[in-house]
Amino acid sequence: MDKMIIRGGAPLRGTVELSGSKNAALPCLIAALLTEEPLLIHNVPRLRDVRTSIDLLGRLGVVSRWTGDHDLELHARAITSHEAPYDLVKTMRASFLVLGPLLARTGRARVSTPGGCAIGARPVNLHIAGIRMLGARIQMRHGYVEAHAVNLRGARVWLDTSSVGATENIMMAAVRARGRTLIENAAREPEVQDLARLLKAMGARISGAGSHVIEIEGVERLGGAEHTVIPDRIEAGSLMIAAAVTGGDVVVRGAPLEHLEAVIAKLRETGATVEPVEGGLRVARGAALRPVELRTLPYPGFPTDLQAQMMALLTQAAGTSVITETIFENRFMHALELMRMGADIVMKGPTAVVRGPTALCGAPVMATDLRASMGLILAGLAAENSTELSRVYHLDRGYEALDAKLRALGAAVERVPGEEAA
Ligand code: UD1
Repeated sequence: MDKMIIRGGAPLRGTVELSGSKNAALPCLIAALLTEEPLLIHNVPRLRDVRTSIDLLGRLGVVSRWTGDHDLELHARAITSHEAPYDLVKTMRASFLVLGPLLARTGRARVSTPGGCAIGARPVNLHIAGIRMLGARIQMRHGYVEAHAVNLRGARVWLDTSSVGATENIMMAAVRARGRTLIENAAREPEVQDLARLLKAMGARISGAGSHVIEIEGVERLGGAEHTVIPDRIEAGSLMIAAAVTGGDVVVRGAPLEHLEAVIAKLRETGATVEPVEGGLRVARGAALRPVELRTLPYPGFPTDLQAQMMALLTQAAGTSVITETIFENRFMHALELMRMGADIVMKGPTAVVRGPTALCGAPVMATDLRASMGLILAGLAAENSTELSRVYHLDRGYEALDAKLRALGAAVERVPGEEAA
């Protein structure tokens, strides 16, 4: 298992280019199951979760081929298996998204349930309830969801929680169902909107993506399409926070301003300068950072996927910050590692109180999930001495060439082979 060695202290400067969004790309790849014709997807990030998706889709009969650095062709001429096995679903929960499109295309699917993960229980009950509403018969057996449907039919589906994954799964089932589906309390995330754009290019009839009610009129067949994945707003936010935590000055090229409003507002509240420039956003920080209060919320609120990174930043703010995590119940694992680096953090339930500024001191730390790893890297960039981050495979799931991007901005970050087992 590789490790990342981070020597802190250098303010990041320069320009960095964003990759395509991981969370938008994964469902777009999976949408290939819905048609016998090829999809050509551009701006696909080269990361581990994308490789896992290609692997899973390959087992189901989808032939994938890179036609350029970030251009992927996927062709599901025939579906050869209906099963998403546990070994893949447990490494990447987004695999569960094959349920809806497999059912819509072939009338059956057998998909492992994902189980818990480092940030909480993360159930799939809303995916299942929604797809049941569309007329599928679903049984849970031996850790698998077994679903059958002769014909899916449109229905009114109310989501108790505006789940991103459930919205995407139900949308991919409903596009080929008979009649009209309404998904109410749908997730509004830009990644849901991106999937809807692709499905529409394939011939689906969808309106309202980006609002709380998505309306889908089922069609008999979908065709091939070409689609460009949106830039990664979470990578953008992570790099913007990297500029702020090091007191640097960075232009994040391709940063989707319209998807980052809550993040920009919070960064400005800390005293960082964020300004739109030609082709992206410039983030700089000269003066001392101010503390803030922050709640993670569904989009367009502040994203939970940037909570760990913000916590690292707020250890450097002069005063008391309060972070409340409202999306996942167990998403403060990074706080314990930050405390080992000298941070002053007190946690109570979903709230963390961060007192700063504290001088962070490099330490061996261990990542528990993808975004937590990024938070620890940011702390390492602001710390004295070296920080050694193990379990870098979490990072590889969701950030493309992160160490190279940080090095190009002047950070002393190095990847070394480690010996520890997963
Ligand atoms: C997606 C993102 C993830 C992000 C999360 C929240 C992908 C691949 N991942 O994950 O990076 O952190 O959105 O923005 O896009 N819930 C249920 N029952 C369900 C489904 C969800 O109770 O059937 C709950 C979850 O436990 C959680 C909340 O709904 O508390 C939101 O989760 P959800 O939006 O589904 O997250 P994911 O789609 O898994």
